[in-house]
Amino acid sequence: MTTKPIVALDVPSREDALEFLEQFGDESLYVKIGMELFYAEGPDLVCDIKQKGHQVFLDLKLHDIPNTVYRAMKVLAGLGVDMVNVHAAGGTEMMRAAKKGLEEGAADGKRPLLIAVTQLTSTTENTMQREQLIPVSLKESVSQYASLAQKAGLDGVVCSAWEAEKIHEATSEDFLCVTPGIRPEGAEVGDQKRVATPGKARELGAGYIVVGRPITQAENPVAAYRMIEKQWRGEE
Ligand code: C5P
Repeated sequence: MTTKPIVALDVPSREDALEFLEQFGDESLYVKIGMELFYAEGPDLVCDIKQKGHQVFLDLKLHDIPNTVYRAMKVLAGLGVDMVNVHAAGGTEMMRAAKKGLEEGAADGKRPLLIAVTQLTSTTENTMQREQLIPVSLKESVSQYASLAQKAGLDGVVCSAWEAEKIHEATSEDFLCVTPGIRPEGAEVGDQKRVATPGKARELGAGYIVVGRPITQAENPVAAYRMIEKQWRGEE
């Protein structure tokens, strides 16, 4: 079964978030809440959005010592969210601790999916080698982090659709690739570098797509969502 496109709710306030969701009536969406909205409105908004029947990917990219991440994940799991993430650079011990926290904190015994960020897409091979002193290619570093994430028991990684094949080679076919940088044919690319259409992302092996501005900034967000949903499902 194809997953729902995840809509990046990159808005500054509760008001903006709820106004966006209201356009969809009773329809249940899968939304991504990032640092901006979470730091502005806190866990209450997450619970309210869950209560309205939506699924939530809480994109807070945790990266700290294992015990701190374990305790934080226990709290986030208690909010009933559906997906959370950590930086793979925190190491396998931290990733295992994150998963343990989610398992223990899940209110209904169903833990959220746990995804790793490998190298941020804003990091170039050059800065990775010069600043982090990692002497391999960016692709190798991404594959290594994906493989560590799988060994630590995580469900997948956030990556560009174009990296999905390499990641599946380094891990397994069922390891999830959650892919932002999605643009329907002819849409504004903005600051994204390695974009793919929803259909291309599916072909390349994405398990979930994350779409922000092509929906949230569209003149008709509901129509834009429908079109992306159709393309993602391969119905057009
Ligand atoms: O508006 P747009 O479709 O570019 O939004 C993509 C969303 O995915 C944003 O919330 C962005 O922060 C997030 N993201 C990304 N690239 C990553 C990780 C997250 O674009 N590597």
